[in-house]
Amino acid sequence: MQRALFFLIGISFLACQPSAKSTEDQPQKDSTQTVQSTTDSTVIDLVAKKASLGTPETITVTNDPVFHRNKTFAAIPLVTVLKQIPAYARLKPEETQVVFECEDGYNPSMPLSKVLTSKAYLAVKDKDAPAGEDWTTLQKGPETKKIAPFYICYTDVKGDDPTYKWPYNLVRISLTSASKETAALFPKHDDSVVKGYGLFKTHCLTCHALNGVGGTLGPELNQPKSVTEYWKTEDLKAFIANPESYRNKVKMPKLGLKKKEIDEIVGYLSYMAKQ
Ligand code: HEC
Repeated sequence: MQRALFFLIGISFLACQPSAKSTEDQPQKDSTQTVQSTTDSTVIDLVAKKASLGTPETITVTNDPVFHRNKTFAAIPLVTVLKQIPAYARLKPEETQVVFECEDGYNPSMPLSKVLTSKAYLAVKDKDAPAGEDWTTLQKGPETKKIAPFYICYTDVKGDDPTYKWPYNLVRISLTSASKETAALFPKHDDSVVKGYGLFKTHCLTCHALNGVGGTLGPELNQPKSVTEYWKTEDLKAFIANPESYRNKVKMPKLGLKKKEIDEIVGYLSYMAKQ
């Protein structure tokens, strides 16, 4: 699904697979694979809980970045929903990531502290949808985007700020420790690629995993072989700059990164090839 063009995505995310590359300093457990005891689950299945999520209010989003116009939704404050996650009460917002799990494998995440200081909503119905329907589908060229069953939006955030995520086709939300992701992906042995790490987290990790940590909409980029080992460096950089110049109907969006930023990201990927 080409959700890509709508989002210039970013930020961090925590994986679903324990790392096969993991050695002494990789975490052995991933963090969305949560404590599944019923008393302390870190996940909410939005579809299963649909009837009891809360009472929707009517909200207006100015210049919605997914629909590209002003929109009106029936929506529940996101904090009301997050509070229903059993582990919510014990987690510290500054050490917790909120992971939005979409049906198609797109898994953006945001710091919980950032979510809590914004007017974030879980939209449950598009007020502009045809009578009898909860959502309109979005047509972008030949691609149809499914917005149902849930969509995250904000009434106080600009749509072009890549640090805020606007996932649609959302099915689950989980809470995970921010430090585990850092443990898996932070370049602890090479200061010179820290900038590339930050850029990768902001622009790539929502769709791509490294060593199993990250999104699954795009391919894993480090396991079992790093893309830096089987792409020529200049092609890799040119692909990142403009995926469409390599593949027709490519699902990866053009991200609008500067040449220097791409160099930093590829430097980080080369470092990770050895990790
Ligand atoms: C919105 C999701 C999304 C984002 C963000 C994204 N990608 Fe991709 N990427 C994809 C998808 C999907 C593919 C598969 C492309 C295809 O062939 O259709 C892909 C393919 C790739 C490939 C080719 C892999 C291969 O061997 O075929 C590389 C390399 C890559 N992405 C790197 C990056 C980097 C680096 C970033 C961040 C600067 C990034 N991507 C951001 C979705 C994304």
